[in-house]
Amino acid sequence: MDFKKSVVYQIYPKSFCDSNGDGFGDLKGVTGKLDYLKELGVDYIWMTPFFVSPQNDNGYDVEDYYSIDPRYGTMEDFEELSREAKKRGIRLMLDMVFNHTSDRHEWFQKALAGDPKYKNFYIFKKGKANGEPPTNWESKFGGNAWKYVEKFDEYYLHLFDVSQPDLNWDNPEVRQELQKVIRFWMGKGVKGFRFDVVNLISKDKYEDDYEGDGRRFYTDGPRIHEYLQELNAATFGTDAEIITVGEMSSTSMENCYRYASEDGKELSMVFSFHHLKVDFVGNEKWVIVPYDFQKLKHILFDWQTHMTEHHAWNAVFWCNHDQPRVVSRFGDEGRYWKESAKMLGTVIHCLRGTPYIYQGEELGMTNPHFDQISQYKDVESLNHFRILQEKGLPESAVYEILKIHSRDNSRTPMQWDGGKYAGFSDAEPWISVNPNHVRINAESEMQDDDSIFRYYQKLIRLRKDYDVVAYGDLEPLDEKHPSVMAYRRTWKDQELLVISNFYGKEVTWDAGRGLDGYTRLLGNYEDSRLSGTKAELRPYEAVVLYKSL
Ligand code: GLC
Repeated sequence: MDFKKSVVYQIYPKSFCDSNGDGFGDLKGVTGKLDYLKELGVDYIWMTPFFVSPQNDNGYDVEDYYSIDPRYGTMEDFEELSREAKKRGIRLMLDMVFNHTSDRHEWFQKALAGDPKYKNFYIFKKGKANGEPPTNWESKFGGNAWKYVEKFDEYYLHLFDVSQPDLNWDNPEVRQELQKVIRFWMGKGVKGFRFDVVNLISKDKYEDDYEGDGRRFYTDGPRIHEYLQELNAATFGTDAEIITVGEMSSTSMENCYRYASEDGKELSMVFSFHHLKVDFVGNEKWVIVPYDFQKLKHILFDWQTHMTEHHAWNAVFWCNHDQPRVVSRFGDEGRYWKESAKMLGTVIHCLRGTPYIYQGEELGMTNPHFDQISQYKDVESLNHFRILQEKGLPESAVYEILKIHSRDNSRTPMQWDGGKYAGFSDAEPWISVNPNHVRINAESEMQDDDSIFRYYQKLIRLRKDYDVVAYGDLEPLDEKHPSVMAYRRTWKDQELLVISNFYGKEVTWDAGRGLDGYTRLLGNYEDSRLSGTKAELRPYEAVVLYKSL
């Protein structure tokens, strides 16, 4: 399947659909919803990890790469899901968490028991002479990134939670073990892999960072391209049908040219996150600042044009299980909820790259605005609830920050209907349902021709029907405009104009070219107000125009 014409749908199984009434989503729940996904029109489902795990980081702490966590079901359930998906022309993409394992993984347990072979699977170092950890690097979830083990008088590195020790990729045995994991899942017919924080696997020098949190010593490290090429050649590179995406944390574009080069030696495409830091201050996300629209456009356009010039491919997205809901973030979840959700979908789906939809985005699901700590489940949020208060912020201010930035914002149960638990489960879910499910849910949107769901269906269709959407080059238009994001795509004899208003105020935008010869393919209002070179845009209006040259 041509991944440039494909759309991927991300499922967070824990929150998607619970088939057995334990309040926890499962694989059978996903199988039961395949017809819904088929109707939406997606080609791949990326499933976040469902392997055996203590769930300290919701499955990103893998205890056994070869087995399904019983909370999610059995291998038979997985095989059934795989078969049923295939029948509907949908392929599965699995999430490979290879930067670290769970501390409960057999390898780490053997390492702790003192087995030298397995100690060398991880990164153990002596502390400094003054009794401090080996370096001052910070864990991504807060606190120092090293944990002391008294028995060895050494520390192990954990860039994430203390229960997620980093693997030592410089050890060839580790790389071979991880290749086996991929081959195992390839044998089960899996046709896609997402690699978690994969640009962190090649560590550089173990030195104190006086300029930052340490990331410059392990991001896009010295042997990263070698490791990816080796993994590719030994596993998925042998099957042309397999697509891959790497999650690239704080990466540089220059490295992404290589990670996602069309020569196919490393990965098919990359997730980068720079456009989702426009409401941070530098790398600091635990703050409240309005998002910077100019920066957002600039970053998106920069990646679009430069990746194209270097023959590399982007994954394009607003949402995933680590990001707040986009309609709450860059749209208006109140008065212009529907308009802004559709506008944001238009912008992403008409970019050059493979679009990813995160469960519920196609319904316009919003942040839940949790204001009790018991409602938060994520390790990162729980750590920062404490850390921010230790820094002197009053509890109420911390809640305001969590309501905006917590990863739990996207992890509330999928809103299937207006029933007690939103049709997600018969029992109380592991995380609270957003109360707005009575209004925002799949059942009602499927009955409404004007719904966000129906609009996403059309966006997916556009990519299949018009080659320019999949393959066209992109030229930014009027880049500095204060409220409009507009771009032009061209491919062979096809041209597309995508014009969107990011604000709740009407604006007249001058396209600098006559708009008469264009046909309107899609828009989030009943009609479009175009005359001469001008487009009159209502709040959050988006329009897609097409011309055959
Ligand atoms: C990635 C995952 C995130 C996880 C982290 C550590 O960023 O998307 O959910 O916590 O890696 O595995």
